[in-house]
Amino acid sequence: MRSLPFALPSVIAHRGASAVAPENTLAAFRRAADEGAAWIECDVKLTADGRPVVIHDDTLERTTDGGGPVAGAPLDTIGALDAGGWFDAAFRGEPVPTLEETLDLLAELGLGANIEIKPCKGRERETAEVVAALVAAQARDVPVLFSSFSHESLAAARDTAPAVPRGLLVWELPGDWQKLAETLDVVAIHADHATLKPDQVAAVHAAGYRVLAYTVNDEATARALVETGVNAIITDAPGRIRAALGGEAG
Ligand code: G3P
Ligand code: MG
Repeated sequence: MRSLPFALPSVIAHRGASAVAPENTLAAFRRAADEGAAWIECDVKLTADGRPVVIHDDTLERTTDGGGPVAGAPLDTIGALDAGGWFDAAFRGEPVPTLEETLDLLAELGLGANIEIKPCKGRERETAEVVAALVAAQARDVPVLFSSFSHESLAAARDTAPAVPRGLLVWELPGDWQKLAETLDVVAIHADHATLKPDQVAAVHAAGYRVLAYTVNDEATARALVETGVNAIITDAPGRIRAALGGEAG
């Protein structure tokens, strides 16, 4: 198995504890820590003025009280939006966090992060360069594993911050996964659990890569995946999945 500068936990909170708090907010990351998760996953893209913010969609409508493309609004505008009220009135006023604010909180909570580089179209390289430079320069020592569906972003992260490990995100394991994994110099494959077959897990392991499965919210499914050798489960409900895996899981 390719070496890692940290221990990868077996449970990672997808967009934070997003079953009980608004996804990709500091509140969701705090709830993940409350549920005993050791790591969170978050999605990062750039504002119009090139600042990395933690948000999943290309547009603001679904998870904020704003509208339009994330890439079309500056940080001043995005930072003033409410990213919590859509989920529950109790979270009203929760902002879209910057990557810096997220890393500060993770350092305070002692959590690690699977930072998914999720560029808006046409900003694949730029997004990865900004995110990778920021993470490489952090003095906080938050353990970070990058991932991305974008090969261009993974290549840019590799070139900008080679020491920060990367995972190749796929919906389904492609035929040329091994060539991609070698070229992009990743340590792991992150696959949709619904597509993942036990023989694929074995083949990826045999080639020396870890397997992470997303997004698993069912206890029996999580247990079955771990039995096939999956190294980490990415879930919206880290407390429940940790308990299902025996409570020892990160
Ligand atoms: O990193 C796993 C997962 O987050 C990938 O899909 O759409 O939830 O970002 P998505
Ligand atoms: Mg994601």
